Amino acid sequence: MHLLYRENLARIAKFHTKHGDIETPTVLPVINPNLNFLSESELRSLGAQAVITNSYIIRRTDSLRENALKYGVHKLIGFNGPIMTDSGTFQSYVYGDIEYTNKEIVDFQKKIGSDIITILDIFTRPEDKYEESKHAVEETYRRLQEIDIGDDIIAGPIQGSVYPDLRSLSAQLMSRAPYLPIGGVVPLLESYRYDDLVKIIINSKINADFSRPVHLFGGGHPMFFAFSVMLGVDLFDSASYIKYAKDNRILYHEGTRSLKDLLDFPEWSPLYGRYKPQELIQESEEIRLKELAKHNLKAIFMEINEIKERIYENTLYQYVEEIAHAHPALYRAYINILSENTLTKFQSISSKSPFYYFDSNSLENPWVKRLKNYTYKYISNGKKTILIPKKLWKPGMPTGQKLIDFYEQNDFNILVPWNGIYIPVELENTFPVGQMVSSELIFNDLRDSYIRYLKSINDEVIPYTDYTIKEKIRDFDLEKINTVFDYQFGVKNFFNNNDQIIKSKTTGHIRNIIRNSKLIATMRNDGFFTLTPDGGIFLLAMLDYPLSRVVVTEDSAEFNSKGYNVFFKFILDFDHNIIAGNDVLVVDSSDRLCAVGKATVSGTEMKYYKDGIAVKVHRGIK
Ligand code: GUN
Repeated sequence: MHLLYRENLARIAKFHTKHGDIETPTVLPVINPNLNFLSESELRSLGAQAVITNSYIIRRTDSLRENALKYGVHKLIGFNGPIMTDSGTFQSYVYGDIEYTNKEIVDFQKKIGSDIITILDIFTRPEDKYEESKHAVEETYRRLQEIDIGDDIIAGPIQGSVYPDLRSLSAQLMSRAPYLPIGGVVPLLESYRYDDLVKIIINSKINADFSRPVHLFGGGHPMFFAFSVMLGVDLFDSASYIKYAKDNRILYHEGTRSLKDLLDFPEWSPLYGRYKPQELIQESEEIRLKELAKHNLKAIFMEINEIKERIYENTLYQYVEEIAHAHPALYRAYINILSENTLTKFQSISSKSPFYYFDSNSLENPWVKRLKNYTYKYISNGKKTILIPKKLWKPGMPTGQKLIDFYEQNDFNILVPWNGIYIPVELENTFPVGQMVSSELIFNDLRDSYIRYLKSINDEVIPYTDYTIKEKIRDFDLEKINTVFDYQFGVKNFFNNNDQIIKSKTTGHIRNIIRNSKLIATMRNDGFFTLTPDGGIFLLAMLDYPLSRVVVTEDSAEFNSKGYNVFFKFILDFDHNIIAGNDVLVVDSSDRLCAVGKATVSGTEMKYYKDGIAVKVHRGIK
């Protein structure tokens, strides 16, 4: 996969097939080789880049088999872009055993020129017993191993029913395959068990090779697209656009309606202005099916476009929060996501868009989890911790003078209230604290339990009352930049009181830090630092190998020292805890600094990508 944009586990990426590139996220409409009622140009004009059809049905039907072998699958179904073929696994799940072996059906897919070829995996049902599912995972892997992959894009489905360890195991094993569908989920999708799907998708994704496209087999209803993409799904296939059409039902991004209950088609529909719903009911079945299929595909690709826009502006998580309220099953899935701590390590350092705080659920957002984790670390320094009341501090505002006076005269940890939790006052301008839109709905019982938790870490957590003023003992600005730096790079006391802090004349916010007449760091609008080459040299000296580093080949180092970006394929080693979007030190194999720049992905993902930019270099160092 060539990564273009990302947000947490979601990404916009591209991969190459023999019949052209596919940009994800996208949906492959299912084409019935017996009955193809939308033309290639109709499919493309609605947004399809690629389609999926079934090699088992083609092989089983004499006329189709002969034509496919003679002219190829592209001619057979009349589509000249990328075609994925499925293997017959789903038919064996629905109808029982099928008459071909794995090798035979894969070989057939190769012969008819399929671009993405699926092995004959074993379908694991949600109700299957553990041992049975384990056997299916192992047998599916054995079948992958008996195939010669070569240059083909072979799809190796991840199975394992609802068992998290089996999904993890299957994802690790099947990552040998260049393309990874998540299989065995159709019964869960059909029964709206989105909460189970959340766990299955996460366990599959985080154990899979990130360079592989991940496909949710049968996930064709747009209401679950945003959730799936947020958890790392790149592709879907949809038979639902026809299945619902046959039922006289039409798709919307948040659900489904019956044609007979509809007042009119929405303005975005290709049917709007051409038919009233009642008129379409009177049409012949052939026309009705075709028209409804067009509407349904339009709904599908509009949702994909919205999701891509959301990834680009870093608001996909917010979008998921929004559509979580479209159906109780989606809401339950959303609540499940809140307890997934693993998302925190994929979350980028900040966002182009402000953080939206709605209610206490927003406190489980990966950004806030990172902030809470830091706060627990921050107060475990043995000092007394004072909780400041709300009337003295409001989020997003520069610290009031009274609070600064208090801070400067007492050697305490100072926590300020923020949406019902408490956070270090020094992070007041740092994302998400300083870049937030809040409903201001705060739950007091939550605050009490949070305070109890803080007390369990530091037994001297006490509310603010009047304290006798001592002599000035602290420098707020210096501590602020040191805390932000610690939050960002895990280095305490990076700055010292010989460093010069330059503030903006208009806003009063900290902007530049100068050491020995050299600019070492600049504070951005999101309240984090950008390193200069001189700042990078100081940071390198303070951090043990490989912290905050991306180590590159000698050839790349020379290139990067001139200011060019770092490509994934030249990386030799890196810090596995790098936060996506954070600044990193680009070094050669002798740990010599050659550039400073911004990591495009987290340290967890970095080893997987081979294509594209890993570090956007700010400045090279000769
Ligand atoms: N279509 C829907 N689910 C599946 C699955 O688990 N495996 C395959 N090969 N195709 C599917």
